[in-house]
Amino acid sequence: MVSKKIVVGNMKMNLTAQEINQYLKEFEKKEISKNVIICPSTIYLPYFVGKKFQVGIQNVAAYEMGAYTGEVAAKQAKSIKVDYAIIGHSERRSYFHESDDIIREKITLALKEKLKVILCIGETEEERDSLKTYKVLKKQLKTALQGLDYKEVFNIVIAYEPVWAIGTGRVPSNLEIHDTIAFIKEIVEELTQHKLPVLYGGSVTDTNIKTLNKIENVDGYLVGGASTKVDKFMKIIEVVVPQ
Ligand code: PGA
Repeated sequence: MVSKKIVVGNMKMNLTAQEINQYLKEFEKKEISKNVIICPSTIYLPYFVGKKFQVGIQNVAAYEMGAYTGEVAAKQAKSIKVDYAIIGHSERRSYFHESDDIIREKITLALKEKLKVILCIGETEEERDSLKTYKVLKKQLKTALQGLDYKEVFNIVIAYEPVWAIGTGRVPSNLEIHDTIAFIKEIVEELTQHKLPVLYGGSVTDTNIKTLNKIENVDGYLVGGASTKVDKFMKIIEVVVPQ
């Protein structure tokens, strides 16, 4: 376990500039731990950096800077003081066809720029039903982490997000999450000789967080939908990283 848990808010492609302003106004009234990482849409990142919490970009390019229309480089994110990059989210894997190899490339570039990485892994419902969860997670970890410099590995946080739990209101039992996280920790240590924090993500809400927070080997939570509502997100933060 890391000394203090982490809460990541992945806002995905939500909220207008006006809604973001309102959000920040309400959010900043509260005492917020540095262990909270908010990941808004890329165009809003400048509104979020330099505050009490940390900030993450939801994706980075698999290329250094250059002629890649519409992409954002890790180096550019770092240049406006972004702290983290989410890499390998299941929506990137499925809608934008990101392979484990592309994900490794992105991790390499992010770490090179001293961005911390939140590497998302998780099985689909079909893989779960055919009892392939551990096999899938092992492959995702192996491809993403192989060949990385040990010194850089310290800057990676793993987020275990079962694809079937994302945005569905369905959550694995605490025991299932515990066992899968124990497995992930074992594999990560085997691959890197280091212990990395592992978060749980997938339908985390203000109503189930107290139950989820009882899982003793979870180092924090990645929150999607509920992070776009200040009151819900604050309740989650108050449970996981009380000030
Ligand atoms: P959710 O999303 O909390 O809305 O299920 C989690 C995520 O996709 O990171």
